[in-house]
Amino acid sequence: MSRISLVAGNWKMNRTAAEARELVSTMSAKLREIANVEKVVCPPFIAIPALAALLEGSGIGLGAQNLHWEAKGAFTGEVSTDMIKEFCQYVIIGHSERRAYFGETDESVNRKLHAAMKAGLTPIVCVGETLDQYESGKTAEVVRRQISAGLAGIDSAAAARIVVAYEPVWAIGTGKASSGENANHVHQDVIRPALAELLGAENAQAIRILYGGSVTASNAAEFFAYPDIDGALVGGASLKPDEFVAITKAAVRS
Ligand code: PGA
Repeated sequence: MSRISLVAGNWKMNRTAAEARELVSTMSAKLREIANVEKVVCPPFIAIPALAALLEGSGIGLGAQNLHWEAKGAFTGEVSTDMIKEFCQYVIIGHSERRAYFGETDESVNRKLHAAMKAGLTPIVCVGETLDQYESGKTAEVVRRQISAGLAGIDSAAAARIVVAYEPVWAIGTGKASSGENANHVHQDVIRPALAELLGAENAQAIRILYGGSVTASNAAEFFAYPDIDGALVGGASLKPDEFVAITKAAVRS
């Protein structure tokens, strides 16, 4: 199994373009020294062009936090894959905040995923159960459905490029991370089998599955010690340069 770890920072709606430049400048030299980990920052759309110029040739990737599936046209406020592709290599799809506040569904996730794949972007598809679903033992059922509906109809020839992020909603921004054991269990016993059913065993092995939800410099190593946790999608801690660098270092596989 040769899955190179990936650590992505999801800045959410934080940092102006000027602040984004400052944040990246503070950490890019340290990040680029860390070999054998794919490093990605996902700032707000409006900061993307400035960061693209700053990160050119650094080996640090750039991602968007959303996309629209149509190529162009009368969709006020939306951003297409061609616009994203000009600057970015990655795109986050179906983050739980988009599902909760902006009406994102498994169906829209699926449309966005098809558009991202067609454009040659690396999609980071988010799945995860709410606290209610977790407490009523529905994690496997919910995550399985999000995978099978969200990834439906994807051509298995390119599927290895997909990245899945398991982000239990109860762990996002709460400071209450999942245990490494629980996250690894969901990756290994729920997500990978669901991917195998849809895309074949070989693709399921190749696809990176990240954990997200209150990852910090102090708990990152616990997650990365598990064989089925291939990296992290980091929110709050990705806005703190020392934390993000430390998390990325912890993701290096020996
Ligand atoms: P958090 O967010 O690290 O602040 O919990 C993770 C995410 O929402 O991607």
